[in-house]
Amino acid sequence: MKNFWLNMPTEIFFGKNQIEVLGKQLKKENVKSVLLVYGKGSIKRSGLYDKIISLLAENSIKVTELPGIDPNPRISSVAKGAELCRENKIDFIIAAGAGSVIDCSKAIAAARYYNGDPWDFFIRRTSVKKALPLCAVLTLAATGSEMNGGCVLTNEKTLEKLPMGSVRLKPRFSILDPVYTFTLPKNQTIAGIADMMSHVFEQYFSYPDASLQDHMSEAVLKTVIENAPVVVAEPENYEARADIMWAGTVALNGLLELGKEGDWATHMIEHELSAKYDITHGVGLAILTPNWMKHVLDEKNCYKFAAYGRNVWNITEKDDMKAALQAIEKTSEFFKSIGLPQKLSEIGIDGSRFDEMAESALKNSRIGTFKELNKEDIVEIYRMSL
Ligand code: NZQ
Ligand code: ZN
Repeated sequence: MKNFWLNMPTEIFFGKNQIEVLGKQLKKENVKSVLLVYGKGSIKRSGLYDKIISLLAENSIKVTELPGIDPNPRISSVAKGAELCRENKIDFIIAAGAGSVIDCSKAIAAARYYNGDPWDFFIRRTSVKKALPLCAVLTLAATGSEMNGGCVLTNEKTLEKLPMGSVRLKPRFSILDPVYTFTLPKNQTIAGIADMMSHVFEQYFSYPDASLQDHMSEAVLKTVIENAPVVVAEPENYEARADIMWAGTVALNGLLELGKEGDWATHMIEHELSAKYDITHGVGLAILTPNWMKHVLDEKNCYKFAAYGRNVWNITEKDDMKAALQAIEKTSEFFKSIGLPQKLSEIGIDGSRFDEMAESALKNSRIGTFKELNKEDIVEIYRMSL
């Protein structure tokens, strides 16, 4: 195991009606004026918006709103949010929604104190030196953004989608009430499930092995696999929604990657698809993941895929390579069984931009640590996914 530093400053309030802590938490932070960031209306339909507004009013906290954040959030929303923060002397941001809203809020928190173009954070021209504090009220189990310091934004002018992160962007606290996920349409529920599973794969299939982290990863995967069909069949099953919600947080709050060097290749090549075609992140991952697995599998690493197959899927095959191939098949079958697309062609993507996307993916960093990918590898994974 490599040396590691662990810093988990985010307080988690998990369970039914935990929204009631919002006022007290903001008072503790001495908040006077918040920016309330949200998406295109789901929080209004669910009643969460009204609840937050009334809690803020009860505590005499001034609210400025930034609604309309897109899935695959845009850098122009960040510039707008940062301006609102300066104009209205905002001292805290509430991100009420899913990953895109939380990511956009983090970028706003950083951009508030930066006078240049907020895209500079994403192309590594600057780093986060100071940020507004923020909290998340989560409505979709998927990204883990509610407990990590990362965010992923799209530059709508250049059609690039890039991540950035800082410990300064970790939420002060996050409210995770599984009831808020009852209203999710099936396509978002299953995309979230693919996303959290992919987060685990990106960390599990990486070096060096780390026994506790890897077994925890297997436990997260088993929890998701057991509960996914339940939430699909019964969207209002509280216990299953709760297991999925917490699994999504643990999948990317840093614990599973401690002492390891995550791979993240599938994410980097998916971000190209989301950037160019504006598809749902988790859907892109569900299509690419089994093909990434098949492409990188070799004699040296098949022991790890075999361990995944045996420990997560109860595969009894003794030969590592055969067990690995069965595990990959199980992964594909599982995604299909909950209703996720299997092919890029099913979601309207053809092969015309594969070269361009592979080049763009490699522009800002090397890709893959479990197995480094070059342009030909990336094009091949896209081609296998067609
Ligand atoms: O806009 P509204 O009306 O709120 O609707 C949203 C949106 O259309 C809807 N939704 C959310 N909660 C709902 C709901 N509809 C009904 N009921 C609810 N309770 O769901 C849609 C998708 O929202 P989005 O925020 O895009 O989903 P998700 O949480 O999957 O976030 C995806 C984004 O996060 C990034 C992805 O790249 C993508 O841009 N990621 C962020 C990460 C991080 N910060 O650590 C890591 C991830 O790997 C990922 O890259
Ligand atoms: Zn993801």
